[in-house]
This record gives sequence, structure tokens and C-alpha cells, in this order.
Amino acid sequence: MPASLPAAPPVPRHIAVIMDGNGRWAQSRNRPRAFGHRAGVEALRRTVEAAADLDVRFLTVFGFSTENWRRPAAEVEALFDLMRLYVDRDLDRLIADGVRVRIIGERAGLSADILALIERAERRTASNSKFGLTIAFNYGGQAELVRAARSLAEAALAGTLDPANIDTALIARSLDTRDLPDPDLVIRTSGEQRMSNFLLWQAAYSELVFLDVLWPDFGRTHLEAAIAEYQRRDRRFGAAEGQTRHEIVPEEASE
Ligand code: FPP
Repeated sequence: MPASLPAAPPVPRHIAVIMDGNGRWAQSRNRPRAFGHRAGVEALRRTVEAAADLDVRFLTVFGFSTENWRRPAAEVEALFDLMRLYVDRDLDRLIADGVRVRIIGERAGLSADILALIERAERRTASNSKFGLTIAFNYGGQAELVRAARSLAEAALAGTLDPANIDTALIARSLDTRDLPDPDLVIRTSGEQRMSNFLLWQAAYSELVFLDVLWPDFGRTHLEAAIAEYQRRDRRFGAAEGQTRHEIVPEEASE
């Protein structure tokens, strides 16, 4: 093993989370689903704090998917209200803690007040660099790829892009996540085992960890357990077993 390799596998730089199970958590308490989403915001607060404390640099969470519009109108409204409440209540603390907030997803179709809220959260935290919190809101991985494909096609049509120059790096730069590293680890709670249209391109080589806990019960110990599971995995990025990390991702060796 090259000397520059860390003795223990590193903490994932970027963790993405599918916060699943709010509805079941509420129903098991005979409460409305929105009650579960409210408890989910508390779990999100705990997770941001724990992730930053554990030296994770980026956390991306799935707050509202393009498919969630199919839910009853009252539940959709409750999720939008929670987004409003989260930014209103937490923005000052996030700023004080050096957190940069990004919101990814489709902006078209969102109400003017939500757009203003998103813009305010991103603008007021733009110079922070200690920790990156990204909220996927009105987000779908396929829709994101469609938007990227359209923008590249428009550039080609305008004559500013030679289609022969389209490669993985250019596509990555055309996505909402253009200034984020790919997630090293994707966690999904509630026992479901699927990606549900989350970060489809970006998670190509992510380790996936599925936990049986419902999202409102998620906390630091679950995050630590998921990181420990990640550290037991052998990330090969398509290379053969036995090749060292240094051979596979040489740029990481000097970090
Ligand atoms: C999945 O649980 C969760 C969601 C659809 C939304 C996640 C949202 C939050 C944690 C709160 C909102 C926070 C922000 C900042 C927007 P589910 O309802 O699908 O649960 P179920 O599978 O048990 O029904």
C-alpha cells in the first residue's frame, strides 16, 4: 500500500440521504402524515449537526421529489410549509455555523415566495465554506438530466458547442450539482431499497447503505453506523479487487 494512503478508510466527504419513513412513523402513532414530516425536520437538524461534527463536508437530502406532487394536496402543502419554516427558523444558525445552503431541483412551477426563500438561503450563505447542505426540492434525477441535455442541445444548435466535446465532465458540469463532489455514501432509511430518482448520475459509484430506522428516529448513532458500514466497503470504481485506492483515484492520495 502506498505510504500516502490513510491507515483507516476516510470519513465520506459527501453523504446523501433519502429521508424515508415519515408517514409510517406518524401512522404508527395514529397521527397525520404531516406530523411525521415535522418530526423529520428535527431529524434533519440532528443530522446536519452530527455530520459536521464527524467531519463530513457535504450533506444532500431529498426534501421533495418531482413525484411527490402525486400526494394529497394537504400533504404537499405541509411539505412546502416545512421548507418555509426550516429556512425561516434555521437560516441564521446555519449562517453562524458556516453552512453553505444550496437547493437543487426544478425551479419552474414553484411559487414566488418559495423561489424568494431559496434565493435568500443561497445568497446569504454563499460565502460559507465549512459545510455544504444541499436540499433537493422539487428534484428528480431524470428531470435534471433532461434539463442538462436540453441546455447542451441548445448550445450545439447555437453553434457554441461541438457535440463531439460532450463528455462525462461536461454533463456533470451541466447538472444542478455542478459545484459539488459526487456523494461517497447514499443512505436510505425505513428499510426500502431503491434510489427513487435521487442523484442518478452522481451516485454512479456511491456506496449505498439501507437502514431499517424510520427517518424521524434517525440520529447521530445511525449516521455513525452508516459511516462505519461505508468504511468496511471496498470502493473500486470499476477497477479490480486488490488494486489500491491510490491506483484508482490518484488525486485523493495527496489530500
Ligand atoms: C419520505 O417519507 C419523506 C419525504 C417525502 C419528505 C422528507 C421531508 C422532510 C424530512 C421534512 C421536510 C424538510 C425540508 C427541509 C423540506 P414518506 O412520507 O414517504 O414516508 P412513508 O414511506 O412512511 O410514507
